[in-house]
Amino acid sequence: QVFLLNLIASLYPLSEMQQDCASPPVIKNGGVLGPLLASYKNGSWVEYGCQHYHFLDGPSIVYCDHGNWTEQPTCLEPCILNVTDMDSNNLTLKWRREKLIFLHGDLIEFECKQGYDFLQTASPSPGRTQCDHGRLKYPKCSCEKKTFMFI
Ligand SMILES: *[C@@H]1O[C@H](CO)[C@@H](O)[C@H](O)[C@H]1NC(C)=O
Ligand SMILES: *[C@@H]1O[C@H](CO)[C@@H](O)[C@H](O)[C@H]1NC(C)=O
Ligand SMILES: *[C@@H]1O[C@H](CO)[C@@H](O)[C@H](O)[C@H]1NC(C)=O
Ligand SMILES: *[C@@H]1O[C@H](CO)[C@@H](O)[C@H](O)[C@H]1NC(C)=O
Repeated sequence: QVFLLNLIASLYPLSEMQQDCASPPVIKNGGVLGPLLASYKNGSWVEYGCQHYHFLDGPSIVYCDHGNWTEQPTCLEPCILNVTDMDSNNLTLKWRREKLIFLHGDLIEFECKQGYDFLQTASPSPGRTQCDHGRLKYPKCSCEKKTFMFI
């Protein structure tokens, strides 16, 4: 019986065609590297890439598996520092850099402008924050004057 089923399957390439995949899915802020085909055989694969400054999260290689594509990656947005927001929080970047763009997961180090100090003084690195899916929390500086001790 198994033999018969195998024979039937080999006589009907239709079942094989049903395992083919259509063009791989479109993803936001990225895409397939290299040329696209109209149809892909079971077991074939494509590689995804992300646009500049976007962080590739998940598998970059995606396989055609019995007519379906395996899980695609997502391209996470970068953080673009907002100078207005930095000024209103009395922040400057600790390290000078030309572009105010950071990738998802990057650590960003701020300093308070002169005369200001971080509110969260208990934290070991109050000026440090992480770019998270294009969003970042600016640390807060207060205008509390440093008290000087004269002995
Ligand atoms: C389809 O591809 C998978 C691997 O991606 C393989 O394990 C499987 O045997 C293939 N099936 C057929 C019918 O070719
Ligand atoms: C492929 O997708 C179809 C419909 O979405 C589903 O019925 C089928 O079980 C899937 N096949 C595999 C191998 O995941
Ligand atoms: C910066 O943030 C302010 C509000 O906090 C907003 O009005 C402004 O459009 C932002 N600038 C840019 C370039 O995104
Ligand atoms: C930042 O400094 C300005 C003056 O330069 C002040 O008006 C403002 O209140 C300060 N912002 C914060 C959050 O301390």
